[in-house]
Amino acid sequence: MSAPHTYTGSGEDSPAVRDLVGIGFGPANLALAIAVAEHNSRRAPAEALRPAFIERQEGFAWHPGMLLEGATMQVSFLKDLVTLRNPASPYSFLQYLQDRGRLADFINQKTFFPTRVEFHDYFRWCARDFADQVAYGTEAVAVRAAHDGEHLEVDVRRADGAAPGTDPLLTHNVVLGTGLRPHLPEGVASGPHVWHTSELLHRTRALTSPRHQRFVVVGAGQSAAEAADHLHRTYPGAEVCAVFSRYGYSPADDSPFANRIFDPAAVDDFYTAPEEVKRRLLGYHANTNYSVVDGDLITQLYRTAYQEKVTGAERLRILNTTEVAAVRVQDDGARATVRSLIDGETTDLWCDAVVYATGYRAGDPRHLLGDLMEHCLTDSAGRLRIGRDHAVATTDRLRAGIYVQGAATEHTHGLTSSLLSTLAVRSGEICDSLLLSGTERAVRAQRDLLAPASAGNAPLPSGLRS
Ligand code: FDA
Repeated sequence: MSAPHTYTGSGEDSPAVRDLVGIGFGPANLALAIAVAEHNSRRAPAEALRPAFIERQEGFAWHPGMLLEGATMQVSFLKDLVTLRNPASPYSFLQYLQDRGRLADFINQKTFFPTRVEFHDYFRWCARDFADQVAYGTEAVAVRAAHDGEHLEVDVRRADGAAPGTDPLLTHNVVLGTGLRPHLPEGVASGPHVWHTSELLHRTRALTSPRHQRFVVVGAGQSAAEAADHLHRTYPGAEVCAVFSRYGYSPADDSPFANRIFDPAAVDDFYTAPEEVKRRLLGYHANTNYSVVDGDLITQLYRTAYQEKVTGAERLRILNTTEVAAVRVQDDGARATVRSLIDGETTDLWCDAVVYATGYRAGDPRHLLGDLMEHCLTDSAGRLRIGRDHAVATTDRLRAGIYVQGAATEHTHGLTSSLLSTLAVRSGEICDSLLLSGTERAVRAQRDLLAPASAGNAPLPSGLRS
C-alpha cells in the first residue's frame, strides 16, 4: 500500500497546488478546515497546510429541509466541531454563544441539547471564517491521478449546470466528506406530491392551501415522527396518517453505557475488532440511531393522539402494521393505497403529499474515484480498505493521498461515522495524518492493516507497499 503524499511544507509547490482538497463542506470537512487552521496558526507560513473545499450547495447548509421548529440536537453541544479535541478552541459552541450574546441565556435552559436551528447557526458561524477556502455551488465530478502519481486532479463543475467546468484542482490529497444521500424506495421519484423528508420545509413552504387536507407519512424513525409532528402543527385543518410496519414508534437508546459507542475510544475498539464482532456491535446498537425516535417526541405525539380521541377530532392517525402498497400521482394530489400487514385489507387515502421518511444512504466514494479505483485496495466485499487515519489503502504507484470520512466508513470505523459525535477528534486525526512523513505513515498504515483479525483487513499481498 502506498502512503499518502509526504508532507514537506507548501513552499516547494506552485501556489495552485493544494495540500488537500476536501470534497463536500458539511460539518465533517468544516471540522477538518478548523483543525487545519488551528495547526497552521501554530506553524510558520512555510509549514502551513493549504486546503481548499468544494461544496455543491450555494452556501453552508446542514440538512436545510429538516430545520424544523423545535427539533433538537441528538448530540450534546459539547460534541461540537472542536471541544473533544481542543476545549480551548475559538470555534466551540460556547464561544459561539458568547459571540452571539446568549451564553447566560443558554445556560439557564439547563440543557445539553440545543435546537437544530441554533446548531445550524453555530455551524454557519464557524463556516463564515473559511469562505475564502470553499468553492460553493460547485460539484466535484471525478478524482484522477496526475501523471506523476504524486498529485491528484479533481474535476469540478457548477452544481447548477449554468457554466462549463473549470480547470481541475491539483492537490496532494483529497478528503471525501460527501455525507448522506436521501433514499427513496425503488420506483419512487420525488415530485410535487411525493416528498422525501429532506425536502420537507421547502415543500411545505410552497404548499399554502392543501386541497385534500391530508398527508401520508411513511416510516417510523426520527424523521418520520418529526415530519408527522411538523405537518400536524403546520396544517391545523389536515389529517396526518403515519404509515409504518412496526407496532409503534420505538425510543432511541441514549442511555449512558450505550452512548459510549459514540466515544472516540470506541472507534479504536471497533476498528480493530474482528469482522464478526463489528457486525454484532452494529446490530446491538443500531437502536441508538436507526429507526428510532427521541423519547420526548414519542410522548408528545402520543399525548396529541390521545387528546384528539378525547375531543373526537382525530387528525393524527397512527396506521401501525401497515405499508404503502401503491401510490398514484395526479395533478392535484396523490392516492396512497395502504395495506394492513395483519389482514391484507387495503384503504385508499387521497392526500396532498406522500412523505417518505425512508432515510439516507452513504454516498459511495468509488463513484467519484472512477479509474483511480485500480490503485485502491478493497476488502473481500469490494469495499475500500480504509486505514485508522481514514486514508484509503492504495498501490505504491499512487503516492497522493485519498481520505474518506463520514457515513461511507461505518463498516470500518463504526456507528459514529455518520454522526457528529467524533468530528472534533477525527478531524485532528486526519490533519495529523496529512502531516506525517511518508515513512511514519507507512508504518502506521501497515500496523492498521495487520492488526484486525478480520478477513477484510488481511495482510497486504506482496508487491504492495504501505
Ligand atoms: P453532510 O451530509 O452533512 O455533508 C456532506 C456535504 O457534501 C453536503 O453539504 C453535500 O452537499 C456535499 N457534497 C456531496 N457530494 C458532493 C460533491 N460531489 N461535490 C461537492 N459537494 C458534495 N447527527 C448527530 O450526530 N446529531 C444530530 O442531532 C443529527 N441530526 C440529524 C438530523 C437530520 C435531519 C439528518 C438527516 C441527519 C442528522 N445527523 C445528526 C446525522 C448527520 O449525518 C450528521 O449530522 C452530519 O450531517 C454529517 O456531516 P457530513 O459532513 O459527514 O455530511
